[in-house]
Amino acid sequence: MSEQEKDQQPIEPTERVKVVREAAPGGDEEYRWHSGLNRPTGVPDAIEFIDVHKAFGRNKILVGLNLGLPEGKISMILGPSGTGKSVCIKHMVGLLYPDDGDVLVHGHSIPNLRDEELFEMRKKFGVLFQDGALFGSMNLLDNVAFPLRQHTDKSEDEIMEVVNSRLAEVGLSDAGEKMPNELSGGMRKRAGFARALVLDPDIVLFDEPDSGLDPVRTALLCELIQEIHKENGGAYTVITHDIMSARRVAEYIAVLWRGRIVEAGPAEELFNSDNEFVRQFLSGSAQGPLGME
Ligand SMILES: Nc1ncnc2c1ncn2[C@@H]1O[C@H](COP(=O)(O)OP(=O)(O)O)[C@@H](O)[C@H]1O
Ligand SMILES: [Mg+2]
Repeated sequence: MSEQEKDQQPIEPTERVKVVREAAPGGDEEYRWHSGLNRPTGVPDAIEFIDVHKAFGRNKILVGLNLGLPEGKISMILGPSGTGKSVCIKHMVGLLYPDDGDVLVHGHSIPNLRDEELFEMRKKFGVLFQDGALFGSMNLLDNVAFPLRQHTDKSEDEIMEVVNSRLAEVGLSDAGEKMPNELSGGMRKRAGFARALVLDPDIVLFDEPDSGLDPVRTALLCELIQEIHKENGGAYTVITHDIMSARRVAEYIAVLWRGRIVEAGPAEELFNSDNEFVRQFLSGSAQGPLGME
């Protein structure tokens, strides 16, 4: 079979696609909504978590996380605040290591990479941290140019060409000379997005891009994420607790709660899930297993 024919073969659901109706350790009630169901998407995974455990001291955050994020789609990891969503992102880029289990990016084990390999691997990623994480002492042009100056040997002219076209894409053509503190929250996020894209990343990670934005700006940012994904492709992972954003942009959804995946799959299937926890969470209802904690 030629490579091309192989590409066209339907992909078998992976072995880890299974329903684990887990009896929680010690018969603990709190895990009973975790079906672990991982519905197949028909495409390979760009990022995989395999039985990942992570604790900070006695605080267990991930307790056997199994999750695959499909190539070429906009995926969302949804979960209440404090469940470990940011911790997941940090595992993907090697800022945190699992205590146990593995994290694979395009099949490479992140915790097992040597420093130089990790440095190379990080060029695959564009990351938009929660606050845009711009350097306060640099104007937007320099902020967006920073990864290019650090990771490429492009000339200053080439760099400015990329920077200007990325700033134009996010609607900030005229703001290049501005300092981050002169911008609104929404503009800072867009600038952070432009900077995350300058190295043409295969994988883009967004940590709560909607936090601190009003509903209109959130909607606009969601639209921007979709547009840019359509243009550039790649595996996008958006982390959020905002259901409206998920309804707008998610093609794949994973619901994280108490250190594991409750259920994951194509967005339209998750929105029709019969798992009570998933239903409650995705409808934002006060009634259901998820209470105030
Ligand atoms: N570096 C760290 N050291 C100690 N505790 C941490 C660290 N990072 C995260 N945590 C804890 O892990 C939990 C999950 O955090 P986080 O991933 O930020 O949640 P969220 O889902 O809101 O993004 C929190 O209780 C947080 O205090
Ligand atoms: Mg977070």
